[in-house]
Amino acid sequence: MAQTAINSPTDVVDFLVSKHEQIKSLFAETLSASGKGRERAFVELRRLLAVHETAEEEIVHPRVKRKISNGAAVVGELLHEEHESKAVLQKLEKLDVDSEEFTRQLTELRDAVVDHAEHEEQDEFAKLGEELSGDELERMGRAAKLAEAVAPTRPHAGVESQVANLVAGPFAAMLDRARDAIIGKG
Ligand SMILES: [Fe+2]
Ligand SMILES: [Fe+2]
Repeated sequence: MAQTAINSPTDVVDFLVSKHEQIKSLFAETLSASGKGRERAFVELRRLLAVHETAEEEIVHPRVKRKISNGAAVVGELLHEEHESKAVLQKLEKLDVDSEEFTRQLTELRDAVVDHAEHEEQDEFAKLGEELSGDELERMGRAAKLAEAVAPTRPHAGVESQVANLVAGPFAAMLDRARDAIIGKG
């Protein structure tokens, strides 16, 4: 029924922006916690980033590249930023979460991810509503919501407390699982 569909061009943008807000609050939660609490928040942050960035890379960026004026240049920049963040995350997951180095690098990563989100909102999302048709926006919104809902990157209930890190796996493996789920459903 129409109630669950994307009803206006801004819905897909609102959805993606709400993910940016969730990512920002998980950075704050991770930075303010310590020990096991910080480990748990960091696992959740990695999961959210893996699913969100993969959904953008598979669903949003390709359409922007094809359909938006100057899209290829905008997307090239964004992909570069995403690539850099992934490299930092892979370094971070090898560090002790309570070390100063972890806090320093996570703070830098937060600043980079916040900048990246602003670039997307200004240079990419804002143009979607202006340049894509209602149908295209609706299809993209559905695909993005489905992708973020199905990506099975969360460990099974019951095992997550003991071995959250182990079950969640490294960030690279989360990205692979998110991509499989998203492409499979696309
Ligand atoms: Fe992104
Ligand atoms: Fe994003």
